[in-house]
Amino acid sequence: MIVIEASILSADFARFGEQACEVEAAGVEAIHVDVMDGLFVPNITFGAGVVRALRPLVGVALPVHLMIVEPESYLTEFVDSGADSLIVHQEICPHLYRTLQSIRELRIKAGVSINPGTPLSVLEEVLDLADLIQIMTVNPGFGGQSFIHSQLDKIRRLRQMLDERGQQDTPIAVDGGINTTTAPLVVRAGATVIVSGSSIYNDTASVAENVAALRASVMKIDKE
Ligand code: DX5
Ligand code: ZN
Repeated sequence: MIVIEASILSADFARFGEQACEVEAAGVEAIHVDVMDGLFVPNITFGAGVVRALRPLVGVALPVHLMIVEPESYLTEFVDSGADSLIVHQEICPHLYRTLQSIRELRIKAGVSINPGTPLSVLEEVLDLADLIQIMTVNPGFGGQSFIHSQLDKIRRLRQMLDERGQQDTPIAVDGGINTTTAPLVVRAGATVIVSGSSIYNDTASVAENVAALRASVMKIDKE
C-alpha cells in the first residue's frame, strides 16, 4: 500500500482549510506541511500555527517537514500543535541522534530527510532511530521543481540497506517533483510514501482527478 501525502505548500493559501479538506476527500493518507525559515532553505512558509489550524479540520495525518535551523528548539511546539510526525534534515542537525531521540520521547514519529547532494552513508548510525526516511528528489525550498533522476539509485540503495538491517517496514518517503510519470519510478525503486504538491494542486485538473491519477500510476506497480 503506497501512502500519498499532499503537500499543502502548493495549495491556494487564501483557501487553505478548504484545500486541506479537498485532498482528504480525494483520499490522500496525509497532508505534508512544509515548514521553511528562509535560512536553511531560500524560502519562508509557515509555522506551527498552520498545523494547529489544520488539525481540527481534517482526520488524516499531518507529517511536518522541518526545513529550519535549530529544529530542536521547536519540537515541542509542533507536537503540541498536532503534528503526527516530525521530519528533520540531517544537514542541519549536528546532534541528529539526540534530535531523533527527542522526537520519539515526545511520542510521535521521527523522520529524517536528506538533500540530493547528501550521501546515504550519513544515516548509517541513526537508521534504527528513524520511523521514516525521506529522500529529497529536488533541492528543498520550492514546490514545482523538476525531479532529479539521479536520486533513484539512492532510493534503491536505501531500500537495500533497510532490508539488510531487518527494517523492511521502515517507510521510505520521496519528496519533490513527484507526478504520474515519476511516482512509478520511485515506487519501483522502493519508496512507500510519495509526497506531491504541484501535481495535486494545479490548474490542469481538480484535486480529486489529480489524486486519482497519481494513485492509479502507482497501483499498477503495487500489483506487479
Ligand atoms: C520542497 C518541499 C516539497 C514540495 C513538493 O522543498 O519539501 O514537499 O512541496 O512540491 P512538488 O510536488 O511540487 O515538487
Ligand atoms: Zn516537503
